[in-house]
Amino acid sequence: MPNLINFDEQNKVFHLHNDKISYIFSVVEGGLLNHLYYGKRINEYHGEMNYPRIDRGFSGNLPGSLDRTFSPDTLMQEYSTSGICDYRTPAVIVRQENGSRASRLEYQGYRIEAGKPKLKGLPATYVESDDEAETLYVTLKDQVSDVEVTLLYTIYHDRAVIARSAQVKNNGDAAVYLDKVASMQIDLPNQPLDVVSFPGAHANERDMERAHLNRGVRKYESRRGTTSHQMNNFVALCSPNTDEMNGEVYGFDLVYSGNFAIEVERDQIQQTRVTCGINDYNFAWKLASNEEFQTPESLIVYSDKGFNGMSQTFHHLIQERVVRGKYRDQERPIVVNNWEATFMNFTEEKLTPIVDEAQKLGIEMFVLDDGWFGHRDDDNSSLGDWYVDQKKFPRGLKHFADYVHDKGLKFGLWFEPEMISIDSDLYREHPDYMMAVPGRKPSPSRNQYLLDLTRKDVRDNIIGQVEKILRENDVDYVKWDMNRHLSDIYSVKLPADQEGEVYHRYVLGLYEMVDQITSDFPEILFEGCSGGGGRFDTGWAYYMPQSWTSDNTDAVARQRIQYATSYVYPTSTMTAHVSVSPNQQTGRQTSFETRGNCAMSGVFGYELDLTQMSDDEKAMVTKQVAEYKEIRHLVQFGDFYRLKSPYTSNECAWMFVSPDKKDVLVKQFQTMADAQALSTITKLVGLDPQKHYQNVETKEIFGGDELMNAGFFDPLYHHDYASSSYHFKAID
Ligand code: GLA
Repeated sequence: MPNLINFDEQNKVFHLHNDKISYIFSVVEGGLLNHLYYGKRINEYHGEMNYPRIDRGFSGNLPGSLDRTFSPDTLMQEYSTSGICDYRTPAVIVRQENGSRASRLEYQGYRIEAGKPKLKGLPATYVESDDEAETLYVTLKDQVSDVEVTLLYTIYHDRAVIARSAQVKNNGDAAVYLDKVASMQIDLPNQPLDVVSFPGAHANERDMERAHLNRGVRKYESRRGTTSHQMNNFVALCSPNTDEMNGEVYGFDLVYSGNFAIEVERDQIQQTRVTCGINDYNFAWKLASNEEFQTPESLIVYSDKGFNGMSQTFHHLIQERVVRGKYRDQERPIVVNNWEATFMNFTEEKLTPIVDEAQKLGIEMFVLDDGWFGHRDDDNSSLGDWYVDQKKFPRGLKHFADYVHDKGLKFGLWFEPEMISIDSDLYREHPDYMMAVPGRKPSPSRNQYLLDLTRKDVRDNIIGQVEKILRENDVDYVKWDMNRHLSDIYSVKLPADQEGEVYHRYVLGLYEMVDQITSDFPEILFEGCSGGGGRFDTGWAYYMPQSWTSDNTDAVARQRIQYATSYVYPTSTMTAHVSVSPNQQTGRQTSFETRGNCAMSGVFGYELDLTQMSDDEKAMVTKQVAEYKEIRHLVQFGDFYRLKSPYTSNECAWMFVSPDKKDVLVKQFQTMADAQALSTITKLVGLDPQKHYQNVETKEIFGGDELMNAGFFDPLYHHDYASSSYHFKAID
């Protein structure tokens, strides 16, 4: 068992450490947990760093104590409650039988175990063997309500991350209600900080923002029932001088796909509290006597090597210890998807020429998108009726799937399993399956409604239908879509005092459903999607190794979206397709080359009608497909670095390096052309300075140190939306 966690009995200090990081906290007055340090590894902690005691006006003291120098209101803590003179954001609010919301969590004890436990019903990081990590369990208790909270901290032996979650158990006789229950909380000492967040909109996901942190509370959240396009469930705090390669960063990620809140509070003495977990908006979880509640997991990554350092820790963690199954380590096929080619207006006859063309061009999978089921010719019907539209496939879907397979391609299929249309057999038979508040008309969105996935009978119906299609049609890939957010929150099967559980129960039901389907079909590659990248979160990556990054396929807009998405998520999770120009979302015209360079920076494919292309374009597809097959492993599994930001310059550049540093790919983009073009330089990072690298195309040779320190001049482009690709191989 690796020695990653120590407890200093004398000073009551916990020290979690590996070669990269130290995380230190202690037990202090009143059994509170005092956060002391999270950052670069400290070899030995001597226990001398005591939180300063001072009498501060209007910051009260521990219940029953007359020590005016000790206040929960300023103490740097690990997990705070409400009702004991800490006026900052609480981690947990326990509503008790008498209506009180006060609680005081006092330290009871700890245990350390090798490895990492599974979190029941929830996605989480995992270990493959117990010597990869250690987990610390710290137990706290509120004496009055007899509610026990256990904080879980996992540290891996080789990753700069702490994974935290909380378990709450009601040991009392009366039921309590959790009005809020965070996964983690941390108080960082006074220091200037910027906050980086990822707000956005449909077709404009993860539109990164950076702001200086002043006093007050900032809340980054979703109230939409899912993680959403509008705000990603990730926030980074960094020093004001932190850039891509230098400076300190803390990254906070919640492994969850529902309503979340990341609250960042800068307090009266400029300490910064971060609280991260399920959003307390319309949330109240009833915990009967002896019942337990497990929060989702939260990941806190530390980097002293700027944002790239943080991102690489997340990339390796998500790729290696969040994503599961056959496709975790396997190269993903190049797809052609018929959505932007035909929308729902297709028949088998219309699709087969696209399949023929795909085969000729070297594409590896055909994905049949929305419109193959029920009588769905537009988006007003048939969700919930997962059986084949005989009009479009008179010889059955299997006939078409066989055709695709006979051409040597894999066959993929689109589903939107969480939804119901009013015009569907499912609704006609089971109107109560639809989520709606009694006596109120539910709100349509894209003329569709949510299924009540808190109910097992509803889930079983959908699982049965989806699995039948998968079994009968030899499906190799599933695109799991979600095209609206939750509203009309109510479940007819829950009592009134548990309606505050619906949002979270929906997510738990959804997880149970995808867990079953993905385990029953381990050979199928699953891709997440929610109107593009509306559910791009680490929780979803546990079930689906890749997600559609955005409905916006414009290569210029995509540079920003993919650049920001890469802050947390590895390239292997990001799908990116070449579509037609002018682009259907923005109307912008870009070259085939630039569309290819952008899409080839992710899990690659096409989203257009291959039969409508000119011979020149087809030749370009053949070239891109061949190139992607060469670089695919490097792009999907190599180390990724952002070099130039499209948020702050007229350029964008990123690169991929193989673990042995012998294979290097650079993609460089310039947005607008100038009459007097500036001569710009791209400098690489992460190479071996001793090695020599040869440009595969031009045969030019550079030293690794040369490419990193001097770099090379970018082309002087004479057109907008330009791009270049450089592939280097070590020749020593
Ligand atoms: C969403 C997806 C698209 C497509 C449509 C089908 O918008 O993001 O890729 O599948 O749904 O309705």
